[in-house]
Formats: sequence, structure tokens, C-alpha cells
Amino acid sequence: MRLNSPRMTVIYNACMKASKSLIRDFGEIEKLQVSTKGPGDFVTAADKRTEKIIIEELLKAHPDYGILSEEIGEINKENKEHRWIIDPIDGTLNFLNGIPHFAISVGFEEKGELVCGLIFDPIKNETFFAEKGSGAFFNNSRIRVSKKNKLKNSILATGGPKFNSPKKNNIFQEYIKISNLVDAPIRKFGSAALGMSYVAAGRFDAYWEWELNYWDIAAGIVILKEAGGFIEFIEPGTINSTKRNILTTNSSILDELKAALVKKNIE
Ligand code: IPD
Ligand code: CA
Ligand code: CA
Repeated sequence: MRLNSPRMTVIYNACMKASKSLIRDFGEIEKLQVSTKGPGDFVTAADKRTEKIIIEELLKAHPDYGILSEEIGEINKENKEHRWIIDPIDGTLNFLNGIPHFAISVGFEEKGELVCGLIFDPIKNETFFAEKGSGAFFNNSRIRVSKKNKLKNSILATGGPKFNSPKKNNIFQEYIKISNLVDAPIRKFGSAALGMSYVAAGRFDAYWEWELNYWDIAAGIVILKEAGGFIEFIEPGTINSTKRNILTTNSSILDELKAALVKKNIE
């Protein structure tokens, strides 16, 4: 594993430690106690256990650093210089149903700017990581977004919509509409973090989703950018919006895809 800095090593070690218990929990999925947190969004005992291990490890290395984590919220809120952004399991629904497609995602901000990110898929043993200015990596290899320049040869991915989404038009209609417009296959795998990682690694040519949280995308943003990818925030439009609508892709199909998505939205 080519880790570029002590900080990446801290994230990596925390994820490796947490993933051991996560893998065990995945093996005993039926026994997990599940409680609902809201529509389409489940919290599991494994979620909390994973989060606890990651946070303990990160705090051991830097007791005063800030943390924003999906389940527990904020720690050391006053620290505006350094902050970890954690999604202990991205793809909880997959996890709960025994589908081996989910990841731990940890991003790191310096003075409010995202500078490091690591996304670890514990079942496939795949690590995507990047540090600002040092490129993006998949396990031991450097990764780049795909070079495809025509939507019609591309493979696209999306997620959602959430049940309470204002854009909750029938998902099948949405697919049919978009498919007709873009003439390309569309996948929906159920993990935003892995969706972005796959664009970074050139497995997907684009991934978009509406109404994501910051922890879903923080690590992915660094990895994607360092892999030469683009991220666009669409209506309302910024990383700080409460509802982050993102479109991630290589630069070559960005305009064509955006035009198709915008067209779909106004129809
Ligand atoms: C979810 C996953 C899913 C996406 C949802 C996210 P969670 O995160 O990324 O792919 O469609 O919008 O909330 O709840 O599994 O951490
Ligand atoms: Ca998530
Ligand atoms: Ca989660």
C-alpha cells in the first residue's frame, strides 16, 4: 500500500482495525439488531461499533482534532483547523441484506479544505485513497478516471432517490427517461462512496445522485479530484448545501451528461 503521509497511515490503520469487526459482523448478519433511523436509512449495531473503533483510533493519534461522523455527530467542534469526516458504513442497506458492497469512508479537512480521503471496501479488500497533490490510488496502483468521450460508450451509475425526495418521480420512469436520453447503461449499486471511487478508478464513467450528506462524499471528493475527475454540485449547488446533488465524471462526457440530466429535470 503506497501511503503518502503519516496522516494517510493513521486513517488506513483506523479503517483496517474497524474493518475486522465489520467483516465479522457481516458474517453474522442475521443476528444483528436493527433499528430504523428514518426512511431508507438504517442504523445497525455494526455501524456504531465500526464508528467507535475508527474514532478511538483517530483520537489516539490526534486527541484534539475535530470529528464529524454520521452516527455520533461532532466531537471537538471548536477545532476548525483539522477535522475528520467519517461514514462508518456507506451502503448500510446492502450490508443489512448480506450484499457485499459497502465501504468505510474517512476524509480529512485542513482549515475547511478536504485534503485526504480513504474509502475501504472490506469484503473485496479494495482501498481507494488520495491526498491532495499526490494523485489517487487503488491498493498499490495509481488510478485515473476513464478516457471515454462519448456517453453512448459509457457505463453510468446513480443512487437514490430518497423516499422524502422532492424528486421522487418513479425511479423506473427516471431510468427510462435518462436511458433514452443518454443511450448508455445505468447501474445503481447502493454506495455513494464506492460510486465515486469507481469513477475515480475508471470503472464507471459517471456517477450522480441527489441529496447526499457530506460524510457520503467527503473522502470521495479528494479521491475523484486526484484521479482527474470532475464533481459538479447541481441545484442548490455547493458542498455546504444541506442537500448535495452531485454529478461526478471524467471531463470528456461531462457536458453531454449534464445536458441529458438537466433536460430530464425540466421535462
Ligand atoms: C447511503 C448510500 C446510498 C445512497 C444514500 C446514502 P448510508 O449511505 O451511500 O448509496 O443512495 O443516499 O445515504 O446510509 O448507507 O451510509
Ligand atoms: Ca453514507
Ligand atoms: Ca452510513
